[in-house]
Amino acid sequence: MKLIIITGASKGIGNAIAKEFYKNGYAVISLSRTKATNLNGIEQIECDLTDLVSLQAVFKSVLNKAKFSSLTSITLFNNAGSLGLIKHLENNDYQIIINSVNINYTAPLLLNSMFIKETESWGIDRKIRTISSGAANSDIDGWSVYCSTKAAVNRMTSVIGLEQENKKSPVHTIAIYPGIVDTGMQTEIRNASEENFSNVLRFKEMKANNELVSPEEVAIKILVIENDSSIENGSIVDVRDY
Ligand SMILES: NC(=O)c1ccc[n+]([C@@H]2O[C@H](COP(=O)([O-])OP(=O)(O)OC[C@H]3O[C@@H](n4cnc5c(N)ncnc54)[C@H](OP(=O)(O)O)[C@@H]3O)[C@@H](O)[C@H]2O)c1
Repeated sequence: MKLIIITGASKGIGNAIAKEFYKNGYAVISLSRTKATNLNGIEQIECDLTDLVSLQAVFKSVLNKAKFSSLTSITLFNNAGSLGLIKHLENNDYQIIINSVNINYTAPLLLNSMFIKETESWGIDRKIRTISSGAANSDIDGWSVYCSTKAAVNRMTSVIGLEQENKKSPVHTIAIYPGIVDTGMQTEIRNASEENFSNVLRFKEMKANNELVSPEEVAIKILVIENDSSIENGSIVDVRDY
């Protein structure tokens, strides 16, 4: 049995990944604040990634439970993400800055650390996939927290790849750019004011011109990426190349 543990499968890209992998024979466990009604057969655990103490306890119990099933591979998908407030940094809300950093960056760091350590002796394929964003490589006004946390998960990925190089049972990790995907996150972007985000009109145009891809199309490509054994450990992969 192949298992994926995915954060943020209640909506958007994570929801489509959970459905696509489940359809293709994977067992799936989702960690989100809310439960989706369209994930029949998928275990959904309510969990808030901003609560880093509870998160450790929840993840440890998920791994303990998984340990005793007959797994051939286990993949952690760090998918949950938050834009926070789209505002210039000096106008942002301190608690929302902290929450967004925790969701986008600190939670993946902690989960990756626990995952690599706790599964070390399992003797099965171990993978980590982190959903990043092209925003990691761009300066976008109003998005300082989002751009910087996505840049951070890219670096986290490449350093873990380096650290795992000479391990006996290396974890394979990549970060994935999903493209511009028609989810609630894009609605939030389009709802920003031009004063806070100068390029908002371009995002409205892209939606009007049907330039966004569906979460389902992205999930199909992510399954292809999952099965591509030629991808170097620590790489950043763009779904649009598949
Ligand atoms: N959409 C795009 O165009 C795009 C482009 C590049 C990268 N991405 C990245 O793709 C990933 C998925 O984004 P999306 O577009 O699917 O966003 P979305 O539709 O807004 O979904 C976000 C998911 O994250 C979960 N989440 C948010 N805060 C959470 C918290 N505190 N604790 C636990 N779960 C939390 C949400 O679940 P609950 O609300 O139930 O907690 C939801 O399932 C993100 O990492 C995002 O940065 C998206």
